[in-house]
Amino acid sequence: MVRIGNIELPDFPLLLAPMEDVSDPPFRAVCKDNGADLMYTEFISSEGLIRDAIKSRQKLDIFDYERPIGIQIFGGDEEAMALSAKIVSTTDPDLVDINFGCPVKKVVCKGAGAGVLKDIDLMIRLTKAVVNSTDKPVTVKTRLGWDEDSINIEEVAERLQDVGIKALSIHGRTRSQMYKGEADWTLIGKVKNNPRIQIPIFGNGDIDSPQKALEYKNRYGVDGIMIGRAAIGYPWVFNEIKHYVATGVEAPPPTIQQRVDVIRKHLQKSVEWKGEVVGVLEMRRHYTNYLKGFPHIKEFRNQLVNLKSVEEIEAVLAEIAIRYDGLVPERKIAAVATEERCD
Ligand SMILES: Cc1cc2nc3c(=O)[nH]c(=O)nc-3n(C[C@H](O)[C@H](O)[C@H](O)COP(=O)(O)O)c2cc1C
Repeated sequence: MVRIGNIELPDFPLLLAPMEDVSDPPFRAVCKDNGADLMYTEFISSEGLIRDAIKSRQKLDIFDYERPIGIQIFGGDEEAMALSAKIVSTTDPDLVDINFGCPVKKVVCKGAGAGVLKDIDLMIRLTKAVVNSTDKPVTVKTRLGWDEDSINIEEVAERLQDVGIKALSIHGRTRSQMYKGEADWTLIGKVKNNPRIQIPIFGNGDIDSPQKALEYKNRYGVDGIMIGRAAIGYPWVFNEIKHYVATGVEAPPPTIQQRVDVIRKHLQKSVEWKGEVVGVLEMRRHYTNYLKGFPHIKEFRNQLVNLKSVEEIEAVLAEIAIRYDGLVPERKIAAVATEERCD
């Protein structure tokens, strides 16, 4: 068992990474169904919450069926972070997560996200402000450092633990790498194996298969793994990893019927959360990955992304389920544009 404060997770938990415009309630619902043990909201601006911005407020939506769930905030001002931690806590999440890894200019230039990696004293003050403003367990998600010359994750981990965080997720890249190159987990392993570190350490970065998950579990000894892009359009990745870690055998890939069922659930939740017009629109970016690898699927995908009503979409999904019944596609990881993505 892994404990984050009073939250109990199974051994080697799998976490759905916070992903702006992706890890919203509809997507989280299908990841929960398929084995995600802990999930996070998209990152929310502390200033946006204080200004009561609608978009920030809506991101606070969490549901009991998806627990344990963490709400992630970002910001560079102590007072704003303290106040937003209070606001977030009123929605009763299981934990409050702080984003100290977002590499995007518009966040970094406000001295937030990965921008804080250049000023560890500020990082500690911001974290203290949040810890002192909520009774929820506080966790942090960050990167190895600002750039190659200022990698400071070992010091950061110790100092964050000292001010009371209950778990740390580390993306194995520096800010200057953005998403380039390979995530380097050696330092994540060093943090985990530091005898001073008592809190759970979750590794993150480029886990895109059950084999890699098991390999990194054994090599770096992390308490669990956080998965982002590999889950987009493929929420089955969580149970597939669990199956492989437990048995050493790959689980069969999802059938077309299982995919259609997940699309239906995702669509239903999307419409429930955002109404039919926006709900149907927001689904359009997911069809590609859900239906990847089936022969001549493009014509169906083109139909799906042009339909406006749930009824019409349902009819096409029913046709897809019949047409591809019994076919097993090649499993492909979703390639996601990440240049301007926060983490
Ligand atoms: C579309 C997208 C949106 C993201 N948004 C966030 C975010 O809001 N907060 C955050 O901490 N990380 C965010 N990230 C980073 C992921 O949480 C994760 O650290 C990163 O994708 C590396 O993990 P992966 O290789 O498993 O994808 C985002 C990544 C992507 C691809």
